[in-house]
Amino acid sequence: PDMQSLLNLDEIEEVATKQISKKCWAYYYSAGDDLISKSLNNLVYKQILLRPRVFVDCRKCDLSTTMLGHNVGMPLYVSPAAMARLAHPDGEHGIAQGISQFGACQIVSNNASMTPEQIVEGSLPGQIFGWQLYIQKERQKSVDMLKRINKMKDKYKFIVLTLDAPVPGKREHDERSKDVRSSLPVTPAVKAGEKAEKEPSSGGVGKLLFFGTAADLTWKSTLKWLEQHTDIPIVLKGLQTHEDAYLASQYPQMKAIILSNHGGRALDTAPPAVHTLLEIRKYCPEVFSRLEVWVDGGIKRGTDVVKALCLGAKAVGVGRAALFGLGAGGREGVERTFEILNDEIDTCMRLLGVDRVSELGPKHINSRAVERD
Ligand code: FNR
Repeated sequence: PDMQSLLNLDEIEEVATKQISKKCWAYYYSAGDDLISKSLNNLVYKQILLRPRVFVDCRKCDLSTTMLGHNVGMPLYVSPAAMARLAHPDGEHGIAQGISQFGACQIVSNNASMTPEQIVEGSLPGQIFGWQLYIQKERQKSVDMLKRINKMKDKYKFIVLTLDAPVPGKREHDERSKDVRSSLPVTPAVKAGEKAEKEPSSGGVGKLLFFGTAADLTWKSTLKWLEQHTDIPIVLKGLQTHEDAYLASQYPQMKAIILSNHGGRALDTAPPAVHTLLEIRKYCPEVFSRLEVWVDGGIKRGTDVVKALCLGAKAVGVGRAALFGLGAGGREGVERTFEILNDEIDTCMRLLGVDRVSELGPKHINSRAVERD
């Protein structure tokens, strides 16, 4: 279909759903147990109201900002999500190409279906990437990957260590698709060469991918270990409480954290990032000045992005939206997805009476309906 005829992310998801395989859909769509966290992730944004100011010159509006000091064209980035080539042969490289004109950052999954070298090929000079790490039980595998990433520091500006899924959540849509191994058309680059007989033969794409992931990571030992193998800045992903956000902020080397419940795919009924943002604001607001707080989960509209920024997020990620964009039209589908979100953020800010990202703050929203304590 003509990408320009698609006007919002739901329409893009609808088209993608028709075009991608059933298994791909089940893997992308799925979330833990009853999908409560997944639905709340989006619902919580709908319950926050905006507080537009009028009589403000809004001829100009600048969406550019920074992530860890690097210039980005907009406060929206691509969250790490595995196996993009399940949706379209353009894969993670297509995502990189699709977002390039917006100057957006892309975090590449540990379980990407293309190599980290392939993904950044042909990217624009200022285009930045992060690389997401699942530390493997066989540590040497992660050490080898880190060595490769260390060689591409001009592109990969940070390492994202995901902490919210030491084991995969119970994703029933995914598990219902049988015979994963036989029908999985692409092997994640990082798993290539692994012995097949060791891996589970059914139980969904998620379980297959998580096989081999270490479950013994701790605050005490893991950061020290990681710093021995890379000097690229480290970002922790999947924090869901003010306690953990505060703990992270106590490590002077930590420059950013990502509040996320893994798109609802890990522990069901875990809180949406909005709740964690509100907790941090209440109990340890100094976290925001010690490090950058990024959030993801449930983003469907530009207004969702703006609300997260108002609550103190420095940048906002989309996982499924990028994958469904890819499924709807490859690289062009991703481009259209980011074009829509870019326009929606721009419109929202102008109608709020704000002309740059750094001006957004709590005074632009009323979040009382979602404040719980
Ligand atoms: C993910 N996510 C994820 N996160 C991560 O750190 N490493 C990974 O490999 C993956 N893989 C993955 C696959 C798929 C299909 C999805 C949908 C998600 C989680 C992702 O980074 C992000 O936290 C959520 O996707 C954000 O929620 P939305 O935008 O999908 O609602």
